[in-house]
Amino acid sequence: MLFFVRSLIHLICLSPALWLSFVLYRGGESLGADPVKEIQHFLGFTAISILLSVFLLRILITLGKQSALSVLHRSLGLWAIFYVLLHLLSYFLLELDADLSLFFHEISRRTYLILGFLSLLILFIVPISLIPFVRRHLGKNWLALHKLVYFSLFFAVIHYLLATKSIEFMAIVYSVLTVVFLIIIFYQKSQH
Ligand code: HEM
Repeated sequence: MLFFVRSLIHLICLSPALWLSFVLYRGGESLGADPVKEIQHFLGFTAISILLSVFLLRILITLGKQSALSVLHRSLGLWAIFYVLLHLLSYFLLELDADLSLFFHEISRRTYLILGFLSLLILFIVPISLIPFVRRHLGKNWLALHKLVYFSLFFAVIHYLLATKSIEFMAIVYSVLTVVFLIIIFYQKSQH
């Protein structure tokens, strides 16, 4: 059963990448007047949707006391990182023409990019800290580092709100969900 659910998660998470590859293969006409922006938005939206699902799954696992399902949690987390990486690459390669100094210049002068960068940094650090060798070396600092994961979602959702510039319905929905999920997770933690 676990194998089936895990395979389903992989299939669902792979489908946005497959869809985008298909659209690009067909010439990308359906991406509108600004395909680069459309690709960035699509990948960013997919990344934050999967990231939110990671937190929702954490809540459900704790509620159902099903720690065996943590493996699904890890799979989803890796997919979120995959899409964040593609989102970043689409910006760096397609919009900035792989200009590293322009990239750091842009990041340093836009708040929403700083927040996106911080969120991405945390998303990369946390799984690395799970490697047994790294975890052993971090000792007590491991737990503190692991708690940073809550900030990754928080920073990502503010990045989303600021990136959209005008008030966008889904950005508001995701912000509300973020606050609700974080409150529930902290409540669940306080009960243990
Ligand atoms: C270094 C890291 C990042 C960079 C450079 C970056 C860059 C960008 C850029 C350039 C935009 C489009 C802004 C515009 O329309 O002009 C954007 C939008 C967005 N980004 Fe990021 N981002 C980063 C990290 C993240 C992360 C970690 C997430 C989520 C997990 C994320 C989710 C989003 C979302 C949801 C949008 C808006 C999509 C929409 O309008 O539908 N980004 N980002």
